[in-house]
Amino acid sequence: MLDFLIDVSQQAGAYLLSQAGKDLFIEHKGRIDLVTHADKVSQEMIIKSIEKRFPDHAIIAEEGYNKSGKEGFAWYIDPIDGTTNFVHGVPMFCVSIALYKKATPLIGVCYNPVTQETFYAEKGKGSFLNGKRIQVSATGNLINALVATGFPYKSKNMKKVITCFFNVLSEVQGIRRFGSAALDLCHVACGRFDAFWEMELKPWDMAAGVLILEEAGGSVTSIEGTDFDLNSGNIAASNKIIHNNFLQLL
Ligand code: IPD
Ligand code: CA
Ligand code: CA
Repeated sequence: MLDFLIDVSQQAGAYLLSQAGKDLFIEHKGRIDLVTHADKVSQEMIIKSIEKRFPDHAIIAEEGYNKSGKEGFAWYIDPIDGTTNFVHGVPMFCVSIALYKKATPLIGVCYNPVTQETFYAEKGKGSFLNGKRIQVSATGNLINALVATGFPYKSKNMKKVITCFFNVLSEVQGIRRFGSAALDLCHVACGRFDAFWEMELKPWDMAAGVLILEEAGGSVTSIEGTDFDLNSGNIAASNKIIHNNFLQLL
């Protein structure tokens, strides 16, 4: 199952790379929220492979595809997480796919075709980057923590977003905004970042990354510190050690 998912992600990623330098047929879903022809083709490729093998599973995919299924199995697909980067030629985007059984993540893969990094995890079996086991960092203090975040395309709560940004920036070593929530979570999982938070995300942004982070020893909650909910949109993720102190800032 995991091999199948890695294969599907890498095929979609290879297609994305093949589009570099070509006309991307960019459309606007909102004022600054972009979608390209490549998002749609990548999604079609992924859905076709999954439906062929698992015709009874639900599928929730970003670019307008929502199919109900049987027995609680559901696939969450982000055909390009980091579309703005993709459009600008910034090499920080990935294909992100996860399989859940009801609220429980079973497998997740995030593949960055530019760096050729495949992050993946299976429930209870640890997290891996290109075949090597990964773990969260051992950073114990906020002042040594490199923290990632992202900003919603459109929000009624921009004040809160900026207040959190101010509070975190005042206490940590640095903040990065790389433009792919899925990769941000993977980067906490492998210890490059120590924490990540964001508001108003969608389930497909986080579905694979949260499993990869948890299996690497990290913690995931809401920014209020309550249990993480894939459909709530808000997430605080960390190496576990600094989680409580990090939550105080949000
Ligand atoms: C976006 C990225 C970005 C995050 C946005 C997401 P998209 O996904 O994950 O990092 O800040 O909130 O919507 O639109 O590139 O799939
Ligand atoms: Ca996304
Ligand atoms: Ca996307």
